Amino acid sequence: MMQQPIEPGPAEPFVSPHPYATQRALERRAKQTADGARRETLLYLDGVTKSFDGFKAINKLSLVLQKGEMRAIIGPNGAGKTTMMDIITGKTKPDSGEVFFRGDVDLTRHDEAAIASLGIGRKFQKPTVFESLDVDENLRLSLAGSRSVFSALRHKRTVEEAAKIEAILATTRLTDKRHRLAADLSHGQKQWLEIGMLLAQDPELLLVDEPVAGMTDAETAETARLLREIAETRSVVVVEHDMHFVRELGVKVTCLHEGSVLSEGTLDHVSADPRVVEVYLGR
Ligand SMILES: Nc1ncnc2c1ncn2[C@@H]1O[C@H](COP(=O)(O)OP(=O)(O)OP(=O)(O)O)[C@@H](O)[C@H]1O
Ligand SMILES: [Mg+2]
Repeated sequence: MMQQPIEPGPAEPFVSPHPYATQRALERRAKQTADGARRETLLYLDGVTKSFDGFKAINKLSLVLQKGEMRAIIGPNGAGKTTMMDIITGKTKPDSGEVFFRGDVDLTRHDEAAIASLGIGRKFQKPTVFESLDVDENLRLSLAGSRSVFSALRHKRTVEEAAKIEAILATTRLTDKRHRLAADLSHGQKQWLEIGMLLAQDPELLLVDEPVAGMTDAETAETARLLREIAETRSVVVVEHDMHFVRELGVKVTCLHEGSVLSEGTLDHVSADPRVVEVYLGR
């Protein structure tokens, strides 16, 4: 996390200031720093709880994601990782707590479609591409948004759309597969195509749930590189069990357990935390 430099205040007088004046200057600077921190926060979960039949899948969960940050979320099965994503994307409404996006947009007051159009894209575990269309057609469909399939594919692309598709093909390592049917891609390539389809919507925050499950080692390593590139221009939250992959991401890690944050920090810090070893890594 980048440390916000504290702006120097107006030039202080040489004469020793009145103690109250000094106090006010300190308060003013503290407030400026707090305002700066709020501006830099993209996503803020505050005391979120969600029960299913009395079982707390998410329990007073608080989490802060900075603008432009990529975060890895780890934790044992049933820790609440997917449920957390369901809550951010509006699929599940929390029982209590708040979820703020870009400072003051309370996501719990919006439905899934509204949250998607606010700029939050979500990749589910299984790839959901159109198998009978080629890579390029899949991307054109996502670029067209709500336009019908027929008009999206017949629509003559503008120079901007063509450039955007080229960029997405390059990012997702699919440039030379653009005319390949999605059905004929490898599992890893289908996952990349789906990530590309999300990029076509230009999300400010991208949520990806277990992207490398079922991938080859080479695809897994490539996915880490690919996500790092994507995170240069937007925020990303990645849920994964594959610790080699999480290490490749090289980002701050949050370990969830029983619906709360158990440990947070660098991967080295989190994986050396005895509580994390006990509930997760040591098994
Ligand atoms: N719609 C639901 N109805 C009932 N229980 C649910 C529902 N969704 C999640 N749960 C329960 O909430 C808990 C958290 O589940 P969740 O899927 O969020 O875990 P996870 O951390 O994603 O686990 P995994 O690593 O296995 O994917 C689990 O006990 C799960 O059974
Ligand atoms: Mg899950």
